[in-house]
Amino acid sequence: MNAIEPKAHRLFRQPVTAIQNDISEAHHLPGFIYTSPDVARQEKERIFMREWLCVAREEEIARPGDYIALRIAGEPVVVSRTADGKVHAFMNVCLHRGVEVAYGAGNTELFRCPYHSWTYGVDGKLIGAPRMKDAGRDMSGCELPRVRSATWQGWVFINFDAAAPEFSEFIAPLEQAAPWYRTGECRIARKLTFDVACNWKFIAENLLDWYHASVVHAGTFGKYYKLGPEALPAKLLPQGVSVIEFDNRSRSLDPNLPFPKLPWLKDASVFSGKGAIFPNINFWSGMDSLRMWHLWPESPDKTHAVCYILLPESSFGTEGFDAKLDQYCNYVEQVALEDRGALESLQRGVASAHFVPGPLSHLELQLQHLLKHYVTVMDFDKAASAHAA
Ligand code: FES
Ligand SMILES: [Fe+2]
Repeated sequence: MNAIEPKAHRLFRQPVTAIQNDISEAHHLPGFIYTSPDVARQEKERIFMREWLCVAREEEIARPGDYIALRIAGEPVVVSRTADGKVHAFMNVCLHRGVEVAYGAGNTELFRCPYHSWTYGVDGKLIGAPRMKDAGRDMSGCELPRVRSATWQGWVFINFDAAAPEFSEFIAPLEQAAPWYRTGECRIARKLTFDVACNWKFIAENLLDWYHASVVHAGTFGKYYKLGPEALPAKLLPQGVSVIEFDNRSRSLDPNLPFPKLPWLKDASVFSGKGAIFPNINFWSGMDSLRMWHLWPESPDKTHAVCYILLPESSFGTEGFDAKLDQYCNYVEQVALEDRGALESLQRGVASAHFVPGPLSHLELQLQHLLKHYVTVMDFDKAASAHAA
């Protein structure tokens, strides 16, 4: 008798590709997908260095000279705005030895490398390299390695891959499927951040998981969710993108929480929309506000999550605004806290040698759609067989 590998364990061991079956026969991903440093390295190479990534709001670099220094999957990057209003993105690695030239966020006329004082313009072009002329070196025309960037609806996207598809191609499915996601007509009300001890994919999945809502969130919005046996009416789009529209009574019926109705919803009495963009964006619209989540892996079991809360200009300064915004943010934080317990436990659970990926519920359709694309992009067949051996 073998207690370590019981019959059920062998029978139900599932390959990575079991997520790609029809949902009635699909299984969740094996634990190593969420715990392995090798997988995390492959994700960096195949996903974060190749996909369009949303890294900031344009309003965060509104004035000429504004900049933000970021680390995206460990890569130091700067996004900035020059006097002509253009947004730039470039690597934050000095052309001399690689020291970061920009730190934090702020407004500047130039970046000065703290090591040997090479200077760069806000557009990343080299301005000065002290004493290099004396050394017979001509550094004219040099610039920090450029990163592709695009702006859309007030967001700044970057892409490290010169060969990646155009941004317009990437964003087209969302533009068509979620015309109500009008973040270009909103600005930041607040930006919340969370550091969670779990893999970034668990948060991406959780934000699309309708199955847990009435359980984990029974004390908040879960009580309004009456989900039956029917399939979720989600639009499943190419590249792992999905969108769903639904009646969000939890936000619409609470007289204390809502700000004024979003102007473009006009006569709608209840409306919510939500969805995901591969790899790490989750977006949401209620009656009165929009939200966007960005999930940044720090290690296989640590994620930095950012939640932007956006409102139309007309909502700012309405009666009791500050108190309502505090209340709203407390609500988002409460919901995130409810999720945190499950997510951090999930991370510990899948690390167990005894974890066997279970079957999906029909309410996990959207997260399955995201993961199907993930498995395709990662080309996991080889990795899966190596780990199964
Ligand atoms: S490393 Fe930047 S000037 Fe030397
Ligand atoms: Fe949740």
